[in-house]
Amino acid sequence: MAVKVSLKVNGKSVSAEVEERTLLVTVIRENLRLTGTHVGCDTAQCGACTVSMNGNAVKSCSILAMQAEGADVMTIEGVAQPDGTLHAMQAAFKEHHGLQCGFCTPGMVMNAIDFAKRHPDPSEQEIREALEGNLCRCTGYHNIVKAIGAGARAMAAGK
Ligand code: FES
Ligand code: FES
Repeated sequence: MAVKVSLKVNGKSVSAEVEERTLLVTVIRENLRLTGTHVGCDTAQCGACTVSMNGNAVKSCSILAMQAEGADVMTIEGVAQPDGTLHAMQAAFKEHHGLQCGFCTPGMVMNAIDFAKRHPDPSEQEIREALEGNLCRCTGYHNIVKAIGAGARAMAAGK
């Protein structure tokens, strides 16, 4: 049975007719065409589909669209300033070469922003633990860890 869901995505009110079993990631990618949110596994393991929902990082492949009714969602497309100025965490990934193919990067950045709000000056160990739910097959994580540390400190400094 089709149901209507209404939510806010990147500051805009949107709605979609979906099946009860439709996932939030499907609405984001297929209904809204916001394809920066990736699907790497569909089984809540890789973290490529991570978005912010009501201020918390969530794996959008593990949430039904219906569960997002009335929610405030931000995807990677909503992170930079409207004029294109990168968010401090995006700038840190760029500066510290925290990506190669980029497939995992949107989910990494969304998780890192949420993590940095709670850890303004994180240790390497804290960052590595926070990355347990985000898989990267390219980088070996070293530069991602550096980028998240720098991004968190930049966010704490109000950049
Ligand atoms: Fe959601 Fe992999 S696609 S965790
Ligand atoms: Fe390729 Fe992470 S940069 S999967």
